[in-house]
Amino acid sequence: MADVLWINGRFTTTDEPVIRVEDRGFQFGDAVYEVFKFLGRGPIFLSEHYRRMERGLAEIEIANPWSGLDDFAAMAAALLERTSFDDGIVYVQVSRGVAERSHFYAEDLVPTAIAYSRRFRFPDAASKEVGIRVITTPDLRWKRCDVKSVNLVANALAKKKAQRAGAVEAVLIDDGMVREGASSNFFVVRRGVVITHLLDPHILPGVVRDRTISLALEAKIGVDERPLREAELFDVDEAFITSTTNGVMPVTAIDGRPVGSGQRGPVTAELQRLFDLCEVRSQKAEGRSERRA
Ligand code: PDD
Repeated sequence: MADVLWINGRFTTTDEPVIRVEDRGFQFGDAVYEVFKFLGRGPIFLSEHYRRMERGLAEIEIANPWSGLDDFAAMAAALLERTSFDDGIVYVQVSRGVAERSHFYAEDLVPTAIAYSRRFRFPDAASKEVGIRVITTPDLRWKRCDVKSVNLVANALAKKKAQRAGAVEAVLIDDGMVREGASSNFFVVRRGVVITHLLDPHILPGVVRDRTISLALEAKIGVDERPLREAELFDVDEAFITSTTNGVMPVTAIDGRPVGSGQRGPVTAELQRLFDLCEVRSQKAEGRSERRA
């Protein structure tokens, strides 16, 4: 079934072929994207997603099609009003626009902005307890992974490799350092301390990563933001990934070797619980601010 699609200020459906062949997003991957979750038609952590997109657009010199957070939130509310289901994700993408193919881009292009809602089956309580298996693989991405650009070929190849190995995520290794998952941030727990890569151009500043770190600190769980050496991966008690679609998800095996006991660890379980509560609170808060508007 077609989904509701917003494109440059008007609504249509994903059945309509709206992207031109010389759109720079299509030809050059010259675009940024966001994925946010909604529950009961309430967007989750909308302002965090907007701020990250705003920064990414500025970093690669694409004009922001929205005048600010309120304008973006109004678009999201209008989209979710037309959506026929309550829970899912919204995919947002902004490309530099349409122009005759040339690496040199004009500075006055009109961006192509799209957003559509999609049904999504989020992991249930049972799968959140079972967790996932991951593999490690070289990080072949560009050097500005802090920008959520649509250039995802290296990520897609890594995920396919994981799938072929019977895993669901690939942890990317670069220069002997553990960076992040192909579509998630990666954490380990060692002697009660949570370790995850610091914010720099090697990783995406994940919205769930940031929230998980804050929740850990509030719960008096130690957090060390530093790159983990690949060799350290096999001397950890627990591991988990974070992402919009997974929340906090335990990792029970890396390259076929069990992590700790091979089962979800206690720190991971606690962070999962705290994050799920926080997500529900965010949904209620965003719902309230919309009603006020
Ligand atoms: N991926 N790192 C990478 C490379 C990602 O692609 C993602 C998210 C994350 C986690 O970010 P967040 O917590 O803000 O979702 C980290 C999205 C969900 C995707 O590509 O579908």
